[in-house]
Amino acid sequence: MQSRFHLLMFAAILVSACGEEAPEMVPYDPARDYFSFANTGQFVTEHLALDLTVDFDKQELRGSATHRMRRIDSAATEVVLDTRDLDVTNVRVLLADGSAAAADFRFGETDAVEGSPLIVGLPEDFNSAAELKLELNYTTSPDSTALQWLPADLTAGGEHPLMFSQSQAIHARSWVPLQDTPAVRITYEATIRTPPQLLAVMSANNDPLTARSGEYRFEMPQPIPSYLLAIAVGNIFFAPLGEETGVYAEPELLEASVFEFADTQEMLEQAEGLFGPYQWGRYDLLVLPPSFPYGGMENPRLSFLTPSLLAGDRSLVAVVAHELAHSWSGNLVTNATWRDQWLNEGMTSYLESRLMEVIYDTDRANEERVLSYQELLLNLEVVPAEMQALAPRLDSGDPDDFQGTIHYSKGQLFLQYLEDAFGRDEFDAFISSYFDAFAFQTITTERFLDYLDEYLLQIESSKVGRADVEQWLYEPGLPETVPVPTSATLDAAQAMAAAWADKKVDVAEIPIDSWSPHATVHFINSLPANLSLDRVAELDAVFAFSNTQNAEIGRAWFIQVAELRYEAAYEPLIEYLNRYGRGRLITPVYAALAQNGSDLDRARDVFERARAAYHPITEASIARALGLDND
Ligand code: BES
Ligand code: ZN
Repeated sequence: MQSRFHLLMFAAILVSACGEEAPEMVPYDPARDYFSFANTGQFVTEHLALDLTVDFDKQELRGSATHRMRRIDSAATEVVLDTRDLDVTNVRVLLADGSAAAADFRFGETDAVEGSPLIVGLPEDFNSAAELKLELNYTTSPDSTALQWLPADLTAGGEHPLMFSQSQAIHARSWVPLQDTPAVRITYEATIRTPPQLLAVMSANNDPLTARSGEYRFEMPQPIPSYLLAIAVGNIFFAPLGEETGVYAEPELLEASVFEFADTQEMLEQAEGLFGPYQWGRYDLLVLPPSFPYGGMENPRLSFLTPSLLAGDRSLVAVVAHELAHSWSGNLVTNATWRDQWLNEGMTSYLESRLMEVIYDTDRANEERVLSYQELLLNLEVVPAEMQALAPRLDSGDPDDFQGTIHYSKGQLFLQYLEDAFGRDEFDAFISSYFDAFAFQTITTERFLDYLDEYLLQIESSKVGRADVEQWLYEPGLPETVPVPTSATLDAAQAMAAAWADKKVDVAEIPIDSWSPHATVHFINSLPANLSLDRVAELDAVFAFSNTQNAEIGRAWFIQVAELRYEAAYEPLIEYLNRYGRGRLITPVYAALAQNGSDLDRARDVFERARAAYHPITEASIARALGLDND
């Protein structure tokens, strides 16, 4: 707020000097979070205490949030918090002697993306206190953008309702009034009251043996950014996977989850060997209903997962490796603002591939590297040049739209490039020292660059200069030195697709049974755009792609079905769009229908029928793909 004020002053001086508006003259400040109203230059929250009742009938959380804040600016008289759609009824300042004083509060102007600043005026007596306790009573809205309230029929069991949060990027403010910026780290504790037969879990010290009492206590002793605050409540049960690992799911999915994620304990152990100590205590998984909008979300101690990973063959568990790796890149060392997201996602994608290599083998890791590289190439065709930098200018729009594969896959390639340049041993030592140096801190791309420069680029044998790195960070596209990943098995699948399309081999000669699901995905992706419908039918008749239980094979297939307008498979395509709610799986299928020249209306119609079961985040991304206003 303070720096915003100074920038405004600066702009005002320019305006008066030039006699005209000069918005472009306000310099972009890469260290500033443009997506929070909080006056973090004046106060910062150090600890948060939540006391919330989970009301499924009203679809609301109700109770209090108490902030312990440290004053940074002795002249500050107001605290500004982020909120969205919160009904705040009372704000008090709590005194050390147990008494309390009411505080004035008001909402500032609402922004469609950022929500509403809550401005709390401090009673005069507090204007010099170095520490402050602020208690806010509030109720969330049923439209809270972070919370999805699922009726029983959208759960696996069909008998109990279920709710879960998704706070990243800037949705925490729609269930807790707080400083919703990754620049601030907090510890927290919570009391959560639920219907008695349901279990609450959080991104905190879940106790696998907890009694189902309807009142649950949580502590989170490690400081986390607000986007990692997480809660879920439902008919969920725990099963162990290893000493420090386990999985929560509805009972109907528990056995399949234990099978699918059986390698989690080993992943944790191998990750510690590669990246340094795991600093969070337990590592558990939570398998959510299909509407969970992402593949996974790295909520500390408890990654949230889509049930679409339950392929029955452990072929999709790279997502678990990814969320686990965030325990270092992201949760331990955190991006300062959403513009630095590649520090979280690119670094994590790189670590994920390293983990896949040791848990499985290099072939599998390379297959996954190639698939993500291929997606990056497609992405680079559509993302505007100025957003292709790893660390672009990001000061407007919705950070939820700032996703795609650039900061994942380009970030991964950048780190692979460094590994190749310095050698694995040297680079691994650098990575561990980086996690050590910045543990429980929040850093900008520029801070990373300085550290990299000091500890790696400066070594005598270094062939990488700062300018090389700056090209990755600040320029569009890929540098010429990009380490293009390769996979012999995917090459074979691609060659087979071409040979079959050219009628050089018969469908019976395609050895799909001996391929990994990744090779099958690549085979489907490699089919030519002009394939005739009878040949598509031939493939489907032999391989039954339309009936696949593997969500990634289904994704690749139904994108082709839509692009080629293979109407014979529209029924299973529609079934697919209703079975899954993960944006990555279904948004591109809708987009392919919308863009094939004849099915936009059909896509809109399917969406209208399916959307009630989707998460608002997925709903918004599909609405955009279909050219619909999402309101
Ligand atoms: N943290 C992300 C999900 C996310 C990113 C939520 C940005 C909100 C804003 C998570 O770790 C993630 O990357 N999930 C991927 C996993 C995949 C790349 C292995 C997903 O959901 O597809
Ligand atoms: Zn991630």
